[in-house]
Formats: sequence, C-alpha cells, structure tokens
Amino acid sequence: MTAEELYDLARAAADRAYAPYSDYRVGAAVLARDGHVFEGVNVENAAYPLGICAERTALARTATEGYRPGDLEAIAITASPCGGCRQWLHEFRLDRVTYPHEGELVTRTPAELLPDTWEL
Ligand code: THU
Repeated sequence: MTAEELYDLARAAADRAYAPYSDYRVGAAVLARDGHVFEGVNVENAAYPLGICAERTALARTATEGYRPGDLEAIAITASPCGGCRQWLHEFRLDRVTYPHEGELVTRTPAELLPDTWEL
C-alpha cells in the first residue's frame, strides 16, 4: 500500500472523528507488517484534557489486537503529529509517518520527528 493510499484511509476516517469541542477532525491509518490496517480518530471529552488524538487511538487499536512495537510499518495522519504522539510513534517503532506539511504530504521516520529520544 502506498503512502497516498494509507493517507486516503486516514482522511476518510477523519469524517468519523468525535470532536465537538474543537471541531478539528483528525484521522489516522496504521499499516501493520502483516497487511492489516487500523484506523483511528480523535475522540474529545467535555473534560478537555481527557481527549485522545487520532494516531494514539489507531495505535491503541493495534495493541488491543496484539500488535507490539516492531509489528507496524507505517502510519498516515491528517495532521502533523503532536509532541506526545511523537513519543508513541517512537515507542511503536514505525518505519514511516506520513502527514501534510506546507501543502504537501511528507514522510518521516519517528527519529526525525523526535530526535535524541528518551529511553526507559
Ligand atoms: N489532534 C490529533 O488527533 N492529533 C494530533 O497529533 C494533533 C491534535 C486532535 C486533538 C484534539 O481533539 C484536536 O486535534 C484539536 O487539538
């Protein structure tokens, strides 16, 4: 699957975001190495800090199905990933992260998005 195809799935998922407070809908789609795709959307809450980003929703879905760091190949997100999500992308060791930047789709590694990363 190409980055563009994965991004199209993320864009379609964004329509299903639950974002009544910000009205900023984000979608994500994760491609696992075995070919399965998991989508995610941002899910907000009246207690604002409890909301969760689209990419973390998608990654949490993969973990629920038993996928672990190293099992995931790529993710496409309809927004540039926030700082906290970059730490999640690092944790799951994806090869490629695609998102729109200055009018075009860019693909980066988690290390490019979060250099000199802290390790436990
Ligand atoms: N959001 C994401 O889903 N992913 C990001 O990486 C950036 C921010 C969501 C969180 C919140 O629901 C809305 O965008 C506005 O911040």
